[in-house]
Amino acid sequence: MNQPDIAESTPSAHHQPWWQTAVIYQIYPRSFQDGDGDGTGDLAGIIDRLDYLAGAGGESLGIDAIWISPFYPSPMADFGYDVADYCDVDPIFGDLATFDRLVDAAHRRKIRVVIDYVPNHTSDQHRWFVDSAGGRSNAKRDWYIWRDPKPDGSLPNNWGSPFGGPTWTLDPATGQYFLHQFLPEQPELNWRNPRVEEAMFDVLRFWLDRGVDGFRMDVIGWLLKDAALRDNPANPAAANDLPVNDIYGRQHHVHNEDQDDVHEVLRRMRSVLDEYDDVCAIGELGYTLERWVRYYGEDDELHLPFNFRLMEQPWDAVAIQASVEALEATLPDWAWPSYVLGSHDAPRLASRVGTAQARIAAMLLLTLRGTPTLYQGDELGMENGVIPQARLRDPQGLRLGAARSRDPGRTPMQWDEGPFAGFSTVDPWLPLTSDSESRNVAAQANDPRSMLHLYRTLLGYRSADPALRSGSYETFPGPEGCFAFLRRHPAGDRLVALKIGRAHV
Ligand code: GLC
Repeated sequence: MNQPDIAESTPSAHHQPWWQTAVIYQIYPRSFQDGDGDGTGDLAGIIDRLDYLAGAGGESLGIDAIWISPFYPSPMADFGYDVADYCDVDPIFGDLATFDRLVDAAHRRKIRVVIDYVPNHTSDQHRWFVDSAGGRSNAKRDWYIWRDPKPDGSLPNNWGSPFGGPTWTLDPATGQYFLHQFLPEQPELNWRNPRVEEAMFDVLRFWLDRGVDGFRMDVIGWLLKDAALRDNPANPAAANDLPVNDIYGRQHHVHNEDQDDVHEVLRRMRSVLDEYDDVCAIGELGYTLERWVRYYGEDDELHLPFNFRLMEQPWDAVAIQASVEALEATLPDWAWPSYVLGSHDAPRLASRVGTAQARIAAMLLLTLRGTPTLYQGDELGMENGVIPQARLRDPQGLRLGAARSRDPGRTPMQWDEGPFAGFSTVDPWLPLTSDSESRNVAAQANDPRSMLHLYRTLLGYRSADPALRSGSYETFPGPEGCFAFLRRHPAGDRLVALKIGRAHV
């Protein structure tokens, strides 16, 4: 059902798969559009706003695909990244019928639909975990990672969670610890159990049968841990002002993630995706370039490992150029790059680089060789929200201190100057940023100097220009402070020259 008619109607699809020529727009559904007046965004809200994204001529932003962060049933301990049922929709976001309507409505506008796949951990409310925790001899016991305490009663190993604290929680009823690299409410699935793999591959098929075009795979490099669960070594270079409970920040992550045998799982996962046409696997991954590039496999693992390196560089021309060149030099000929400048896990782009340089960032993201992913609201130049202590929601901030909170980058989308910025009819789940009355879609839509207008223009250039869409990359010598590159294509080359750096604001 819901088969897209997109492939036939896109001329370039004959030469390149859709995900190489697409610009992806990340929707964080809690904060995009509230369709039912409860203060939290939902799937119906996304449907209502599709014309903003694409398909309504020059009025639309002009993106090609949406990636929707999790909308599955969830206790929301980590705002949907704790999934209680992989094959349904949380009532807060709608239901499966609404999801089907969304896929249809998106495909009618030629928007591809990528959904989040969270395979590393479930919610502790998932029926698999409830079964697993029910007793040592329970049939699902080995679907999660349970270990006895060490003989002295201490934790099975020394691993720390990026959300603070250790990765083990004791279940007093059975006397064993279970592993959770994130919250205790996010127990880790045991991917060394073939039945887990089978069940999780069926989840992919469930959504592919409903017509989705791809998956963004959450912490995909974490699926397998060292089989012996050995201790991680300390990182002597760790900052010494880390919060006391930031055990993760003080370790080298040698044994808890990026294990060599994870690639075997990814190859099997890719063959499931290959049962369908035109599906894209995007992966959330860090690591050094040399370790990261292995996730493309021999073109038999991920299509697009996310590349977050531009967000990790100092914002200056030398560092950005070096990062792009290193990537281009590392990728095999057939591999396609990706670039990300914002996400629901990071501070806002405009707050990181400043408003003026956020315009340059837009030009960079939309002219480099590779698939760009644009985070909702960055096209308005949205800045970090100021969240009063009493309204902090992100577990990372609540556990590691407000400076680590991801809430400031998750404030609701700003549509108009109305009381709740057109996002909702009631006070939203997170406060709006303070400039929502002036910085919003309605205010920027017809202003040729606005950020939104710039994004629309760049997206228009990119979709119309073969060199920007699919040309090769070559660094071009530019003056100091300037990053210049050529995009070469038989239809005509393009030269991009950008003054990058705080000094140029
Ligand atoms: C990924 C998600 C993040 C989530 C974490 C645990 O990093 O992007 O939001 O908290 O995984 O699932």
